[in-house]
Amino acid sequence: MGQGKIRILGISGSPRLASTDWAIREALRYAGENNVVETAYFSVMKKKIAFCIHCDHCIRKRKGCIFTDDMEEVYELMQWADAYIIGSPVYQGNISGQLKTLFDRTRAILAKDIHVFEGKVGSGIAIGGDRTGGQEPTLRTIHDFYILNHIFSVGGGAFGANLGASFWSKDKGASGAEADKQGIKSLHRTLDRLIAVTLKLKK
Ligand SMILES: Cc1cc2nc3c(=O)[nH]c(=O)nc-3n(C[C@H](O)[C@H](O)[C@H](O)COP(=O)(O)O)c2cc1C
Repeated sequence: MGQGKIRILGISGSPRLASTDWAIREALRYAGENNVVETAYFSVMKKKIAFCIHCDHCIRKRKGCIFTDDMEEVYELMQWADAYIIGSPVYQGNISGQLKTLFDRTRAILAKDIHVFEGKVGSGIAIGGDRTGGQEPTLRTIHDFYILNHIFSVGGGAFGANLGASFWSKDKGASGAEADKQGIKSLHRTLDRLIAVTLKLKK
């Protein structure tokens, strides 16, 4: 990593390459326009991520998870990054099951090293098919993940983006997210704050 640069990891919690994938890619494109930012992307689509089975292997051995699957890539990327932009489709008023499973599985690297996420920063994107379909609980769940794991939780700021980026896809996939100008505005504002806070913390 170059001097003074920050690394942002985008994670899409959708099993499809559709609206959430589009929003994360747009977030990384926008962030990447800033020459102090390096980016990486991970989507849960077609990934093998087993449920946490609470075997406590990670707690007892402190060597990571008992499973070897696509979380290996997530563990590596999450340790590489200084900041996260995590997006989820709204499922039953909250995050997708795939993203919840990914969150549960991070317990293994926290058990190995309690400081693993310290000093890192995170923001969220929620995309619902309905205008008020549960975007705010979805964002709160993403922020709860940050708070629980010693990651500084960053919203988009008052008067526009509040808890983070919120999209109404109208169930139209990528074109639905792209047509939501208000959603895009909230996304850019969220990224502006995420970058500013991460830079401040890195100084
Ligand atoms: C199982 C399931 C549950 C859903 N629940 C909600 C919901 O509670 N509220 C909502 O606004 N949209 C809901 N949707 C619609 C998706 O959130 C919406 O289409 C979103 O844009 C999908 O993201 P994607 O295009 O990245 O897959 C649901 C979709 C699925 C498949």
